[in-house]
Amino acid sequence: MSQKKTIPIAVLGASGYVGGQLLTLLANHPQVRIAAATANRQAGQRAVDIFPALGSFGNIPLSTLDPHTVAQEAEIVLSALPHGESAQVLGDIARAGARVIDLSADYRFSNPKVYASTYGHAHPCPDLAESAVYGLVEFERERIPGAHIVGVPGCYPTATLLALLPLLTGGFTKLSAGVIVDAKSGVSGAGRDAKTDNLFCEVDGGVRAYNVGRHRHQPEMRFHAERIGLAGAGQIDLFFTPQVVPMSRGILASVYVRPKDGFVVDLDLVRSHFEKTYADSPFGTVLPEGSFPNTRQVTGTNRFQVALAGGEEERRLVALCAIDNLIKGAAGQGIQCMNLMLGLPEMTALPLVGTIA
Ligand SMILES: NC(=O)c1ccc[n+]([C@@H]2O[C@H](COP(=O)([O-])OP(=O)(O)OC[C@H]3O[C@@H](n4cnc5c(N)ncnc54)[C@H](OP(=O)(O)O)[C@@H]3O)[C@@H](O)[C@H]2O)c1
Repeated sequence: MSQKKTIPIAVLGASGYVGGQLLTLLANHPQVRIAAATANRQAGQRAVDIFPALGSFGNIPLSTLDPHTVAQEAEIVLSALPHGESAQVLGDIARAGARVIDLSADYRFSNPKVYASTYGHAHPCPDLAESAVYGLVEFERERIPGAHIVGVPGCYPTATLLALLPLLTGGFTKLSAGVIVDAKSGVSGAGRDAKTDNLFCEVDGGVRAYNVGRHRHQPEMRFHAERIGLAGAGQIDLFFTPQVVPMSRGILASVYVRPKDGFVVDLDLVRSHFEKTYADSPFGTVLPEGSFPNTRQVTGTNRFQVALAGGEEERRLVALCAIDNLIKGAAGQGIQCMNLMLGLPEMTALPLVGTIA
C-alpha cells in the first residue's frame, strides 16, 4: 500500500475534544492529509497551541469555517461541530461535492420528523438527512462505502446499540417488557466548553444522574434499535438513565431486557449469537462467562467489549458494553467510516491496544 498522504480531508471543530481526538488519530493515518481544520472562538491559533500533545503534527492552522472553501479543499469532511450548527453547513458542503462524516446528531435520523421531535426544530436539509447512512459500522458495513453523508452515532447510542442489537436480532427479548438502559460516562462526553457542572469540584467523588428519561440520545437509541434490531417491523419502549462519573473518558452501558416467553435463558446460546454478530469486527470482544467490561481496558482504543449476565431464575437478560467515548464513541468510529468510504482497510490508523495502568 502506498504510504503517501495524498487524500485531502478537512476537520471541522478541530479545537474541541472530538476534533482534537480526530487530529491525534489522523497523525498516524498513512493516506490522508489535513487540508483544512476549523475552529470558532479559537480560530487563528494552531492545533498544537490548544492540544500540546499533538507535538510537531499539530502545526496546523485553525481557520474560521467557510463551507465553500472547505468543499473545494477537501475530498472528505470530518465534522465535530455542535448539533444544530452542523445540519445547514454540512448540507452546503455535501451539495458542493465533498463527502461528509458528521459526528454531531444532525444526520443521525433518516426520518426528519423524528429529528424535529427530538431536537425541537425542523431539519434544514431533510432530503439529505433521509439519504444519510448511520455510521454504526458493525451493522452498516455494506452501506457506508457508498455513502455521501454519514451520521456517526452518539457515544451513548454506540455503547447501547452494540449491547442491545444482538439481543434483538437473535429474537431473545420480550418486546412488550421494554428495554432499560443505564449508562455511565466520563466528563469529556460533555465537550471542552467551560461549564460549571463539569468543574473538578462538581464531578470529583460523586456520580450524578441527569436528564433521566429525557436525554436526546434516548430517541436515537430507540429509532435505530427498531430500524436495525427489528428491521423496522416493531416498536420498542426504551428508558435511558445517563450518569456522569469522575473520569475523563469512557462509557459503560448496561442494557436490561426480559427474555421472550418460551425462551429458557441460555447465556451460552446468547453469547454465541453475539460472537457470530461480531465475528467480522476487528474491534469487538465478546467476553467469556463471568467477565465483565471495564472502560479502562478500552481507553485509548477503538475497541468495544460486550458481556452478558442474567439467567433463567431471574428471567432477565443483561448485555453490557464498554467503549472510549472519544474514540469508538466518536472520532475513531468516524475514521472507521472514512476508511470504508475510501476503500481502505477499516482498521487504518485506529488503535487496538490501550494503556495498561
Ligand atoms: N464528546 C464526546 O464524547 C462526543 C461523542 C460523540 C459525539 N459528540 C458530538 O461531537 C460534536 C463535538 O463534540 P465535542 O465534545 O468535541 O464538543 P466541543 O469540545 O465543545 O467542541 C466543539 C467544536 O465546535 C466548534 N464550534 C462551536 N460552535 C461553532 C459554530 N457556531 N461554528 C463553527 N464551529 C463551532 C468549537 O470551536 P471553538 O472551541 O473554537 O469555539 C469546537 O471546535 C458535538 O456535536 C457532540 O455532540 C461528542
